[in-house]
Amino acid sequence: FQDENGGCLTLLEDAGYYFGPNVQPEHIINLQNFKARPDDTLVVTFPKSGTHWLNEITSMLVNRYRNLSPDTMKHLEYLPVDVLDELPSPRVLCTHLPYPRIPLDFLRKRCKIIVCLRNPRDIAVSYFKFITNLKAWNYSGYWDGFFQLFLNGNIPYNSWFEHTDTWLKVARVGKHNVHVVFYEAFQADFKTAVTQLSDFLGISHTGEFIDDVHRETSFQNMKQNKEDYTLVLSKDGKSPIYRKGEVGDWMNWFTPEQIHLMDQEMEAWGLHLEPRIMYTL
Ligand code: A3P
Repeated sequence: FQDENGGCLTLLEDAGYYFGPNVQPEHIINLQNFKARPDDTLVVTFPKSGTHWLNEITSMLVNRYRNLSPDTMKHLEYLPVDVLDELPSPRVLCTHLPYPRIPLDFLRKRCKIIVCLRNPRDIAVSYFKFITNLKAWNYSGYWDGFFQLFLNGNIPYNSWFEHTDTWLKVARVGKHNVHVVFYEAFQADFKTAVTQLSDFLGISHTGEFIDDVHRETSFQNMKQNKEDYTLVLSKDGKSPIYRKGEVGDWMNWFTPEQIHLMDQEMEAWGLHLEPRIMYTL
């Protein structure tokens, strides 16, 4: 995709669905035969919504230890199926896929699914910084152009609006085991957000353990991880994952017109995230 300022983003396509250079579309098709287990937990995010953070938190709750390195994240799109098949139970897996594309077996087996949402304004900025900083993307566009690509869904994993719409509909129907959490809620009141998450997971924990999870998964702690494999992938040698870890960086980037355009798109999709999440920053 060529943005209006001449930036060019090259994506792989499978039936109108776009992926980055690190995903094989055939792998996504093969995933349809993936065998889930009833005690699997699936963490679902649109990229840049706090995938690494929620994975660490959930892994700590389920397995009582930290993953310690982002490359131990069990990502459906990036790990070969035989590797995923051999992981010991209980598995904490993650995906960026929208509801219609996840392996059906997760639904058949009634696995617990955690959907983590974040203010799309912060996601757009985080995604822009991420893609511009990764060598493999070879993208040198500007924010204004990337903003248009984001709004039109011409980015890896397509439209944030569609992705969120599919998962919120599923969560509202209540047919599957889906629990929606917000990045901003973990930032605002970690203990309450983690306690609600452990309730959903059916795990009881002492206040002391919740404090451990809080400390271990803090932004500073996760950022200091020397095993961060993504360091070598970035253009400037800084982690493309652990950038600012804040709520509201969008205010440094969005023009009033961009705020209006994004609000319009939210409205068109009938998406009404809590004003507290969207605007109280
Ligand atoms: P920013 O780019 O706004 O800093 P993902 O894991 O889905 O790629 O999301 C990355 C975003 O989550 C980045 O946002 C990153 O800084 C933030 N993040 C990662 N770990 C975090 C943590 N422990 N606490 C808060 N934010 C975190």
